[in-house]
Amino acid sequence: MRLQFVFSGALLLAPAIASLYGESNVNHTCLFSKPLLSCSPHAIPSEVDTCCVETFGGLLLQTQIWSSYTGFESEGQVLPKNSWTVHGLWPDFCNGSYTQYCDLNRQYDPAPSPNTTNGLPNGTVVPPYTGPGISTFVEAFGKFDLLAWMNKYWVSSGSPNQDFWGHEFSKHATCYSTFDVPCYGPQYKEHEEVVDFFETAIKYFEKYPTFQWLAHAGIRPTNVTAYSLSDIQGTLAKHSGGIPYVSCTGPRYNTTEAGKGSLDNGATVLGEIWYYSHVSFSDAELCSFKSATDSAQVKGRPQDSHSVPTDATGSTSNCAKAPNAVHYYERAKGSEK
Ligand SMILES: *[C@@H]1O[C@H](CO)[C@@H](O)[C@H](O)[C@H]1NC(C)=O
Ligand SMILES: *[C@@H]1O[C@H](CO)[C@@H](O)[C@H](O)[C@H]1NC(C)=O
Ligand SMILES: *[C@@H]1O[C@H](CO)[C@@H](O)[C@H](O)[C@H]1NC(C)=O
Ligand SMILES: *[C@@H]1O[C@H](CO)[C@@H](O)[C@H](O)[C@H]1NC(C)=O
Ligand SMILES: *[C@@H]1O[C@H](CO)[C@@H](O)[C@H](O)[C@H]1NC(C)=O
Ligand SMILES: *[C@@H]1O[C@H](CO)[C@@H](O)[C@H](O)[C@H]1NC(C)=O
Repeated sequence: MRLQFVFSGALLLAPAIASLYGESNVNHTCLFSKPLLSCSPHAIPSEVDTCCVETFGGLLLQTQIWSSYTGFESEGQVLPKNSWTVHGLWPDFCNGSYTQYCDLNRQYDPAPSPNTTNGLPNGTVVPPYTGPGISTFVEAFGKFDLLAWMNKYWVSSGSPNQDFWGHEFSKHATCYSTFDVPCYGPQYKEHEEVVDFFETAIKYFEKYPTFQWLAHAGIRPTNVTAYSLSDIQGTLAKHSGGIPYVSCTGPRYNTTEAGKGSLDNGATVLGEIWYYSHVSFSDAELCSFKSATDSAQVKGRPQDSHSVPTDATGSTSNCAKAPNAVHYYERAKGSEK
């Protein structure tokens, strides 16, 4: 679920073309790019190489899920012990709105959601993908270790893992300027950017060990008590450096026994955390850039995984705000390994 959505006539045209900005596939040597923070004043397509500075979706959201079962346990699809799971790495616009399914030539989602590019009946239809699963793309590059990691930590609840990965790639990653096909040059190998995106999402996920951060504050999954949103969000903000969006599902607090008579109608089951950041350079890279402009270290794409945290745009949670109103449920028996 997403709260903000932009409907833009111009962007509706995006799916028809293979590239967001019509870049050529040469001259993207990013070490010649000036270090720029995404969403800062000069990080705009007319002033930079859009393959080297993220200019379409410069506000990155590393999104994580907590669920208590997958529904595919009989097929070995279980949740990782002592860890949240990856949802994705989303490119929001700098103002917090976003687009989706930006390149229908790279549509690998078997169950598009929404089923049109703008989520409305008058949008461009996103055709369901029927080709070989996206894990075959990763296998073709010989990255069985990457697939094993994804099957452990990028786990879907309610669909086969690789359908979920195809969804994340096609709905979100096709909207990055830096993962655009021309950025990969004339020797581009089909699906190279898919593998690159998965690896990038992992780098960001590993910056945010939600399970451990909460556990250190005594906030552990339990089916006995519930926690306060302020404690969960405060703990994660302290560790990550920005206020993350905290998403809940489940019954509204004032429809539950505990919340009877309250005016708090926030949701009561902890489900997702969205960490916001801008893409940047590491301090070391900034130093090397100042001293040697030809340093091979100078780069600033999401792929290089340097970022600065920022606060969630707009509302920061849909969860109940009453004390001890949010359940952080234990996994079901047999649903984690
Ligand atoms: C790439 O750079 C070379 C050398 O500056 C230049 O001659 C050429 O026109 C550029 N090509 C494109 C497509 O920008
Ligand atoms: C947010 O930014 C996008 C991209 O620049 C733009 O198309 C959209 O109109 C903006 N939305 C608002 C509400 O300003
Ligand atoms: C898209 O989904 C809506 C809601 O489920 C449905 O009414 C509509 O027929 C679908 N459109 C297409 C093109 O499949
Ligand atoms: C699509 O429908 C929405 C809402 O009904 C409307 O605001 C928008 O102008 C329509 N867009 C086009 C391109 O027809
Ligand atoms: C729950 O809270 C909402 C918003 O404060 C209120 O409108 C609604 O009547 C409440 N519902 C119940 C069942 O108390
Ligand atoms: C804890 O509660 C959740 C949500 O009701 C349920 O899915 C799960 O099976 C429970 N876990 C245990 C160990 O009882």
